[in-house]
Amino acid sequence: MAISKVGVIGAGQMGGGIAQVFAVAGTDVVLYDSVEGAAERGVAVIGKSLGKFVAKERMSQEDADAALGRIQQAGALSDLGDCDLVVEAIIEDADIKKAVFKELDGHLKDGAILASNTSSISITELAAVVSHPERFIGMHFMNPVPLMKLVEIIRGLETDDATYATIHAETERVGKVPVVANDFPGFVSNRILMPMINEAVTCVMEGVAEPENIDQIMKLGMNHPMGPLALADLIGLDTCLAIMEVLHRDLGDSKYRPSPLLRKMVAAGRLGRKSGRGFYDYRK
Ligand code: CAA
Repeated sequence: MAISKVGVIGAGQMGGGIAQVFAVAGTDVVLYDSVEGAAERGVAVIGKSLGKFVAKERMSQEDADAALGRIQQAGALSDLGDCDLVVEAIIEDADIKKAVFKELDGHLKDGAILASNTSSISITELAAVVSHPERFIGMHFMNPVPLMKLVEIIRGLETDDATYATIHAETERVGKVPVVANDFPGFVSNRILMPMINEAVTCVMEGVAEPENIDQIMKLGMNHPMGPLALADLIGLDTCLAIMEVLHRDLGDSKYRPSPLLRKMVAAGRLGRKSGRGFYDYRK
């Protein structure tokens, strides 16, 4: 099936990035967020990101304006009824995601594909709440979405071959590289990345080294583009904690225990870049 209109639910850093990528690839996008004003703020962030590409002469002003012009803001989930594909990118909470998918289900046109950008929650479990689990799939984009090549594609137990083939082709069409993983907690990306970040947090807690030094060691010693603590701040510490909770609960192994310092920082509202403070201070 050709995808000519895409709905994106959630206008935060992931949802906004996903909307941007589809719009730049020439697709009409409908962006919805349940929080008042969030879709508008999301569009402003997309405008800034496009501006950076224009400034670096990686995109013309005309193309950036055209991409922005393809993004429409929706006031309700029912506005996504004529989309060929809807990608959900809201908070990492299974019950909230299921409630949104249940509500959306009644508004969809025949043949529409549903995708979740979940970082760790079972695609099979989310798909079980909609009428057509065979047309439900995981499309896990990486942050920052406009820059990162990978989309981890996760097939749920019921995802059919046609849905997989459409999403694989669509991912390539928008300039990303699809790589498939099976439906296990955290898939591949976060099963490996999050325990590393969690261990870096434990190193801070135990006083092994200062955050700057932990990040420098991983950057200079392992050639990582950014250190695990700076990356945690970029992802959001609340999201990191939510993913560790899923790994811990669903794989049932104590090696995935969230670091107590991670819990403490989330409890204090130090969520990273988005709250102005995490392992680093962004308020200056
Ligand atoms: N749109 C446009 N431009 C952007 C941007 C965006 N959204 N975000 C950053 N940039 C720009 C920066 O402004 C910067 O521009 P200038 O050079 O003009 O300042 C440029 O990109 C490069 O950024 P940096 O100078 O900071 O340098 P960098 O070379 O380190 O690149 C990076 C940045 C691509 C983020 C790189 O550090 C990187 O790859 N980091 C690792 C990211 C990563 O691991 N992501 C996966 C996270 S896990 C995830 O997303 C999944 C999950 O489920 C949690």
